[in-house]
Amino acid sequence: MTDHQLPPAPELGEIDMFDASVPADLEAHLQPSDAIIQARNLTKQYGPLTALNDFTLDVPRGSIFGIIGPNGAGKSTAFSILATLLEPTVGSARVCGANPVTQAREVRKKMGYMPDVMGVYERLTVAEYLQFHAAAYKVPRNEWPELVDGLLQLVDLDVKATSLVDRLSRGMKQRLSLARAMVHDPELLILDEPASGLDPRARIEFRELLVALQDMGKTILISSHILAELQQMCTDIAVIEAGTLLAAGTPQSIIDQLGNGRRVKVSFADGTTEEFSITDLAGQAELLRRLVIEDDREVVEFAEISTDLEGLFLQITQGIVQ
Ligand SMILES: Nc1ncnc2c1ncn2[C@@H]1O[C@H](COP(=O)(O)OP(=O)(O)O)[C@@H](O)[C@H]1O
Ligand SMILES: [Mg+2]
Repeated sequence: MTDHQLPPAPELGEIDMFDASVPADLEAHLQPSDAIIQARNLTKQYGPLTALNDFTLDVPRGSIFGIIGPNGAGKSTAFSILATLLEPTVGSARVCGANPVTQAREVRKKMGYMPDVMGVYERLTVAEYLQFHAAAYKVPRNEWPELVDGLLQLVDLDVKATSLVDRLSRGMKQRLSLARAMVHDPELLILDEPASGLDPRARIEFRELLVALQDMGKTILISSHILAELQQMCTDIAVIEAGTLLAAGTPQSIIDQLGNGRRVKVSFADGTTEEFSITDLAGQAELLRRLVIEDDREVVEFAEISTDLEGLFLQITQGIVQ
């Protein structure tokens, strides 16, 4: 686990977003921190359905933080709350230093949000689409040409500036949607399943784009229901299922936390193979010593079976759909 040590979580129900008197100790917990997002006990209730359940998370500044979970897990619900579009039933958050419920304007100035579905803009060209959003963010009109050119170059859509938005391919629309989220040069990007529906090449290009954005100093919170999409580029991963956060940390720390130790496959001279569970490197040495010295067996191959996050994800989420 990286040091996303969270302050003690207040009891659920202690915090009521609609009560102005948020407990002082909670406010204290949410004061300046290295985390660009601090979510505390966020819960969203739709009637009897708990779409998000006591969701507490810190997103370190500068990270590419992936939220992974099956469809219906609550990813979009969490992102909508952080992006100021939905009020939590319970809980509180700081996004870029501001409260998304009571200081939505402050949050929106510093955060760019890419929703999971792009609206329809039948009559707009790609350049007009970005100008439209630049206007919405009150970017001065004389800055539009340079801004739009720069963004289109960044997302590799400069040749499409005069094409109609609706004529773009899925991958191009996703890149345009990302450019749109950046018209006001936000420090934080919240991207809801940006790679869904992309072919493998488009996905790789998208990933490279996100890494370039990280190099520019942006923090990126991204979701996916396909772990392989996130595994290689994310510095941090959180796994969510049925509204509940199951694990958070670096990809490796999640494997360590939840991986039930490691497994090794041993091949013997008689042609048989066996698998063993071990906890760490010392366990590996101990296993080898026992097999060779105590059991007097002739080992010809001894290999650790790599645990990838995909396998682990399937193991720790049970595919609960609510
Ligand atoms: N406006 C809504 N009204 C009722 N239920 C909703 C609403 N939005 C989402 N849900 C439900 O909340 C759960 C979480 O949804 P969502 O956050 O969209 O999950 P994900 O983005 O991980 O697929 C799902 O069961 C979904 O059907
Ligand atoms: Mg979603």
